[in-house]
Amino acid sequence: MSRLTARELTLAYEDRTVVHELELAVPDGQVTVIVGPNACGKSTTLRALGRLLKPRGGAVLLDGQELAKIPTKKIAQSIGLLPQSPVAPEAITVADLVSRGRQPHQHWWQQWSREDERAVTDAMERTDVQSLAERPVDELSGGQRQRVWIAMALAQETDLLLLDEPTTYLDIAHQVEVLDLVRQLAHPTPIGSRGRTVVAVLHDLNQAARYADHLVAMKSGRIVAEGHPKDIVTADLVREVFGLDSVVVPDPVTGSPLVVPGAPYSPSRLADVPAPATTSERLRHP
Ligand SMILES: Nc1ncnc2c1ncn2[C@@H]1O[C@H](COP(=O)(O)OP(=O)(O)OP(=O)(O)O)[C@@H](O)[C@H]1O
Ligand SMILES: [Mg+2]
Repeated sequence: MSRLTARELTLAYEDRTVVHELELAVPDGQVTVIVGPNACGKSTTLRALGRLLKPRGGAVLLDGQELAKIPTKKIAQSIGLLPQSPVAPEAITVADLVSRGRQPHQHWWQQWSREDERAVTDAMERTDVQSLAERPVDELSGGQRQRVWIAMALAQETDLLLLDEPTTYLDIAHQVEVLDLVRQLAHPTPIGSRGRTVVAVLHDLNQAARYADHLVAMKSGRIVAEGHPKDIVTADLVREVFGLDSVVVPDPVTGSPLVVPGAPYSPSRLADVPAPATTSERLRHP
């Protein structure tokens, strides 16, 4: 089942078409990860899925209805989007920024409810930013700031969450923490409780292969392959999409495909490489 779909979606900036007749059905309650080289149209696609960009052709549908025809507030209650380079209002504090995630849920007769408070506290705890609550966002480190933006998107508590490179600036431990959190959102415990649908753009292929239920590989504004990472991540795909030689082995921790860059070892290739000078030669020709 897919609440969010793209039909013949064509996206352009002025006269340059960036995404060509894309067909995509985002599986409900799963983590979909989009990968692909720089400038292939990942962010553009994500922005269109979140209605930040109007299609040049085709449409994005939510529950079968064109996004363009759904009231903005209703979309904001259903779809949360973390852009690639969000810009915070000047001098805003962490707590205030995260609270802005609640705007779609507020009414003119009630500006702030206990439910809003709970969602904000919960989002800040899950992203480990409670201790930063009173700090101005523009004074934070890149990684701290990134976690605050994720908190804001979480506080929105939408069924669909679109995250453009959520792990940028994060150290390796925080990357894993955020990706574990993303998986937890889609597959909450206890099993059977409401799972969210996540679409994330990631640059790290190995993390993508670890965390995606559904992987979408894009190149030049088109989908080259999609499916479960185990079914689609091969050295051939990596070469086709990134133009990179690699060896794909099972990840020793998860068994998911692990892409190791470099051409496979071959004795004949090694014969082309000049042997290192011996010690005595080096002494003679320093
Ligand atoms: N606001 C814009 N105006 C004009 N062209 C744009 C705009 N945003 C993106 N583009 C162009 O559209 C193409 C796709 O950009 P997009 O940001 O979707 O790439 P991406 O796959 O997200 O790349 P990256 O991995 O570098 O984030 C690029 O050629 C880019 O220069
Ligand atoms: Mg991008």
